[in-house]
Amino acid sequence: MAQIRISGGVPLEGEVRISGAKNAVLPILVASLLGDEPSQVSNVPHLQDVTTTMELLGRMGAQLAVDERMQIEIDPREMRDFEAPYELVKTMRASILVLGPLVARFGRAIVSLPGGCAIGSRPVNLHLHGLRQLGAEVSVENGNIIARADRLKGARIVFDTVTVTGTENIMMAACLARGTSVIENAAQEPEVVDLAGFLNSMGARIEGAGTNTLVIEGVERLGGTKYSVLPDRIETGTYLVAGAMTSGRVRVTRARPRDLDAVIDKLAETGAVMTTGEDWIEIDMRGRRPKSVDITTAPYPAFPTDMQAQFTALNTIAEGTGIVTETVFENRFMHVQELQRLGADIRLKGNSAIVRGVAQLTGAPIMATDLRASAGLVLAGLVARGQTVVDRVYHIDRGYEIIEEKLGQLGARIRRVSGKQAA
Ligand code: EPU
Repeated sequence: MAQIRISGGVPLEGEVRISGAKNAVLPILVASLLGDEPSQVSNVPHLQDVTTTMELLGRMGAQLAVDERMQIEIDPREMRDFEAPYELVKTMRASILVLGPLVARFGRAIVSLPGGCAIGSRPVNLHLHGLRQLGAEVSVENGNIIARADRLKGARIVFDTVTVTGTENIMMAACLARGTSVIENAAQEPEVVDLAGFLNSMGARIEGAGTNTLVIEGVERLGGTKYSVLPDRIETGTYLVAGAMTSGRVRVTRARPRDLDAVIDKLAETGAVMTTGEDWIEIDMRGRRPKSVDITTAPYPAFPTDMQAQFTALNTIAEGTGIVTETVFENRFMHVQELQRLGADIRLKGNSAIVRGVAQLTGAPIMATDLRASAGLVLAGLVARGQTVVDRVYHIDRGYEIIEEKLGQLGARIRRVSGKQAA
């Protein structure tokens, strides 16, 4: 299995270019199934989850073409199979996103029910509830969600918890329903807004994206479109934290600063000088050690759970004590034990981690447990004295494009060692 090896201690310096957003491109690729013409999606990041999504769509009969710039063309006209099998769903929970589009467009879907996950139980009850409200017949048999409908009917759906992919699934389905749908307590994440932009460019009529109420007027058909995916705000935030932790100066380019207000505010609280332009953000620690910060995760526009592990890592070497409270997922502290192996002083209490900053971490072999946890571990490795070896890096490859190259460009001493060499 591949590993990432880091020799910590170099203040990062320079510029890094941000890729397209993983959590926008996955629903966008899936949404192209709703059209009766091909669509082209650009600014697609080269990620394992994108490959998995393409495999899923390809198995269903969609024709896919990728050019050298990772622009993907999806032609759904030959779709013939409406199933997402367990072997793919278990590697990528976002496969659940095919449920709404398949039922809306083809009247049927079989999607393996995602099981538990490293960060929490992550049920999909709200996805199923929303689809039933739209008139689909939904059952769970032999580990599969089976959904059928003639034509979906517009409905008012009130989510009792804010759910990102739940909102996306129901929003996609409602586009082809007869009549108007209203989704209340909808997720307001920038990725939901990007998906709505994509759907509207296919001919959908969605209003209110970016607020907690979506109004979707169903249309008879959707066509194809050309669309460029928004920049990844979590990747952006991760490189900024890398700058903060290493007392460096990092500029991220091709980013969208307005999607990161909560993260930028917290970085400023660490003592960083933050400067933003139209599509760039610069963090400058002026060589100082960051001060610890308290964070509480919550749905957008509050502080994102997908940046929690990175800020936990930051607090491990910051001046003072920071309290990190996770309110979105019940088990998203798997990185804590690994950070402790590097010498971090962290105490878990309920859904909070109390992190007392230490002057120095020391390198050790550690293991990635999920995508964002592994980003936190890599960041810790950048400041740990000696060598840190992060194992199970396939978690990182699901969501960070060439992370070792990008960090390398900023001066980090980091390299990937392939499975054979690592063994
Ligand atoms: N929830 C339910 N029932 C449901 C759906 C969700 O109770 O039917 C609960 C979840 O258990 C959780 C909360 O609602 O406690 C929020 O979960 P949400 O549904 O919003 O999460 P998700 O849609 O499964 C997406 C991202 C995650 C990100 C979360 C929260 C994608 C593909 N995934 O997941 O991204 O952490 O929203 O912002 O968009 C990542 O990129 O590493 C990642 C995990």
